Amino acid sequence: MTQHDILRLGHQGDGIAEGPLFAPLTLPGETVSGTVEGDRLRDVRILAPSEHRVAPPCRHFKACGGCQLMHASDDFVAGWKQDIVIRALSAQGIEAAFRPIATSPAQSRRRATFSARRTKKGAMAGFHGRASGVIVEIPDCHLLHPDLLAARPLAEALAALGGSRKGEVSVQITLSEDGLDVLARGGKPLDRALEVALAELAGQQRIARLVWEDEPIAMRTPPGQRFDGIRVVPPPGAFLQATAHGQAVLTAAMIEAVGGAGHVADLFAGCGTFALPLARGAEVHAVEGEAAMLRALDGGWRKAEGLKKVTTEARDLFRNPLLPQELERYDALVLDPPRAGAEAQVRQIAESKVPVLGFVSCNPVTFARDAAVLRAGGYLLDWVQVVDQFRWSSHIELAARFSRAHI
Ligand SMILES: C[S@@+](CC[C@H](N)C(=O)[O-])C[C@H]1O[C@@H](n2cnc3c(N)ncnc32)[C@H](O)[C@@H]1O
Repeated sequence: MTQHDILRLGHQGDGIAEGPLFAPLTLPGETVSGTVEGDRLRDVRILAPSEHRVAPPCRHFKACGGCQLMHASDDFVAGWKQDIVIRALSAQGIEAAFRPIATSPAQSRRRATFSARRTKKGAMAGFHGRASGVIVEIPDCHLLHPDLLAARPLAEALAALGGSRKGEVSVQITLSEDGLDVLARGGKPLDRALEVALAELAGQQRIARLVWEDEPIAMRTPPGQRFDGIRVVPPPGAFLQATAHGQAVLTAAMIEAVGGAGHVADLFAGCGTFALPLARGAEVHAVEGEAAMLRALDGGWRKAEGLKKVTTEARDLFRNPLLPQELERYDALVLDPPRAGAEAQVRQIAESKVPVLGFVSCNPVTFARDAAVLRAGGYLLDWVQVVDQFRWSSHIELAARFSRAHI
């Protein structure tokens, strides 16, 4: 056993002592003891706790790998997440004004992917353990919406029916306004007997849609989501903001960012989380790589009332970004790229005259890189807001606004 001071938190939320030595579930400022194993500290004991240490509200926290930061106060986590964004920006020479963080409440996650497997007695479902592949059952999880947590036995039932002896079934369950939207992957190949059994199970449960790999098994009601009240039925497994709270905060931020623009392009538009609410006040062109998501967006627009015109375009924005002359027709853009960011697209935007951009990012490093390209093209970063819909995790999401200094 040796003694160590924890200096900082790593990007995965582990404490780091000199070495570097990674010490899970520790906080900066703490003195700990433990056994060094490679670059990790095992059997960690806290000798002098941080003032930011709190008792984790969830009894599964120590074993479950779902949350990383339940042992730290909300204020500490908020400051740590904002600081990561500040440091990513400052590495690019950018300073920013920060709006107060918006953190989603406990028990608000509306989608989860449960790991499930058959056991000798039946089946089990939960999340992988901390730094392990073992499934930890989480009947009292504090993260998931209660209706989603109540669906965990369904993941077990699916594994009992269609799991192989060795492998895991990954069961993604999303709350929709019509019941559970379920997508299972990694189970046995579908045969007639399994299809009948799965369809029977779907009939007994509050399942709106059940898909096994890519095969639709049951659709009691198309599972709808609401984007600012506008109903859309996303394709199975399609991207959805993690909490209704996070979606509402990000949508409000994007509407505010683009102000009274009359023509907006929503790039990386998904199923229309921002495009459809924006269409209450502007004509919107939604561009996205997945055609099925755009069909869902278009279907939502056609059934909604009172929206301005929305057009869609399936396009790979990494290989084929909108060019400056195509961007000229918009008074504002919204971008919400995947973790890789939007480098090719922002290079074109930097050459354009579009006055205002709303930007949502789930990766501070690629965001800062893209912000530097925009800044070199004459844009100012007006504000940044960390939107923490991944409460208790090390994951970071943000909204930002850019505008042209001189048009
Ligand atoms: C973070 S999601 C945002 C979706 C949407 N804005 C929302 O809030 O629901 C990123 C989106 O980018 C899309 N995407 C990923 N790579 C892409 C690419 N190369 N070209 C166009 N769209 C892409 C994904 O399909 C996904 O819908």
